[in-house]
Amino acid sequence: MERAGVVEKADNASGLDGYHCNSAEKEKVPGSGAKERGDMYKNITPQWKAVNALDMACFDEECFDFVFEKSTSDAIACGDCDGSLLKKLENEIYRVTKPGSKWLSVSYSSSRWDGIIETSRWDANVIKIKIDTDTTDGEKTTSHTVMRPEVYQNCYVFTKKIPKC
Ligand SMILES: C[S@@+](CC[C@H](N)C(=O)[O-])C[C@H]1O[C@@H](n2cnc3c(N)ncnc32)[C@H](O)[C@@H]1O
Repeated sequence: MERAGVVEKADNASGLDGYHCNSAEKEKVPGSGAKERGDMYKNITPQWKAVNALDMACFDEECFDFVFEKSTSDAIACGDCDGSLLKKLENEIYRVTKPGSKWLSVSYSSSRWDGIIETSRWDANVIKIKIDTDTTDGEKTTSHTVMRPEVYQNCYVFTKKIPKC
């Protein structure tokens, strides 16, 4: 099920034109080309492989045009005391992506990649999307209303730099 989201900040610098809002709104974005893109890729058969993202030796170097992970980095960060596991993840994604291609990392953390991403390796943009949830407690059992914190998804768009010859 898709969650509704509210775009707080989005610009074309992300290079993800047409993907910068939730799916319900995507159809309304002029020129998003969602249908055309869907038609373009209809003959592609997806393949699935379960792998450890920290060791993707089964994939060749520079074999992917695009990498997407949502909260995999969040899960890995839970057992990461010094950032070494996140660096390992970044290293593996860097290894398997083609120069100029994108890695979209969706995280609950607004500082997920601080100190990990090197500007010599990636161009970076972040789009912060507010999740449209009810911020009040559904059941009002006391005279007070319990407020829930606002929830954001941080969409990091990394573009692998093309090495200068
Ligand atoms: C918070 S869940 C997110 C799942 C899904 N992407 C979503 O948004 O609902 C984190 C996922 O990361 C996976 N994961 C954790 N460590 C991993 C690793 N080293 N390699 C591959 N997947 C991993 C877990 O199995 C889990 O499915």
